[in-house]
Amino acid sequence: MVGGGWPMGDRGGERRGVRGRSCPLAYRYRPEALAQPSQLAADTLYVVGGLYGNLAALRAVLQRAEREPGGPAAIVFNGDFHWLDVDPEDFRSISETVLAHHATKGNVEAELASDEDAGCGCAYPDYVDDAVVDRSNLIIQRLRTTARQCPDLVGRLGGLPRHLTASVGGERVGIVHGDPESLAGWRLALEAMEPGDPAVRRQLGWHGQPTTPTEVQDWFQRADVSVLASTHTGQPFAQDFLVAGRRRLVINNGVAGLGNFAGTTYGVLTRLSSNPQPPGDSLYGIAVGALRCDALPIPFDHSWWRARFLAHWPPGSPGHRSYFTRLDRGTPLRPEQAARGAVTLAANRAAPAGG
Ligand SMILES: [Fe+2]
Repeated sequence: MVGGGWPMGDRGGERRGVRGRSCPLAYRYRPEALAQPSQLAADTLYVVGGLYGNLAALRAVLQRAEREPGGPAAIVFNGDFHWLDVDPEDFRSISETVLAHHATKGNVEAELASDEDAGCGCAYPDYVDDAVVDRSNLIIQRLRTTARQCPDLVGRLGGLPRHLTASVGGERVGIVHGDPESLAGWRLALEAMEPGDPAVRRQLGWHGQPTTPTEVQDWFQRADVSVLASTHTGQPFAQDFLVAGRRRLVINNGVAGLGNFAGTTYGVLTRLSSNPQPPGDSLYGIAVGALRCDALPIPFDHSWWRARFLAHWPPGSPGHRSYFTRLDRGTPLRPEQAARGAVTLAANRAAPAGG
């Protein structure tokens, strides 16, 4: 998962071990693993990653799904639905609701279910500060204590798949948590994508190997999908690519449970639909073959979530230090930076209520 608000925090810290930096071998897979028969078919599908234990956002997602004109949308929760929900009742409620839908595990669920301690399992790259990594390791420790009270649910979380292939409007969609090679991969991070956004890279302190269009095109061919939907790195964006003359799309929903854009507090989900009409609340979107793809805001009850968060993560706690700014004010990212390539920013974007 992401480090929380931007900037990533106290830089220059001394490197302290590899917990939270490493990528467990069990996280690795090949893009060809997505080139399987689709496991679910839907006319409209929401991909919801990074709920982070926010029950108010979960309720808002379910309500939005019910309002779809063609009938309720199918939902895939693609990991990290747990994180800040150290309250046992919240943990149980989120688990049971998510497990009633389609879901893949994120590094949080994988680590809760694992006997080995890889910290938070985030595989944070080295441009993310040590202090952020240390705080994530403390958060997972607390969450493990909560999860031990629900061993039945933790067993089910551990049994979730690492990725899923869906068919929406006849187009194949590959749903991952991180990237097409690892559950906690960072290769589909906004800051890694070419052409690079200098402002995003500067703000995140990014350095490293960029993800080139050639690599992405190769992934699309090996995975045999038209859309790759991810979440882990926490910054939302959509970017189209041409592969064998056909448009394909990488879309990362950022996080469903915290603010994503400057001065906003709403979560973001990915909506994929066979209905070509852009939804009225689209933030940005594009057509990919027969599929309409949009980022939608999740305008949840922010005051409820803020109070719930503060009750468990007061000032000075690792959760507060990593996430409160983002929860309260979003990130520096602007939607214009998230709509990449031929993806179109919605013309009449209204600020969603509650966001
Ligand atoms: Fe994650």
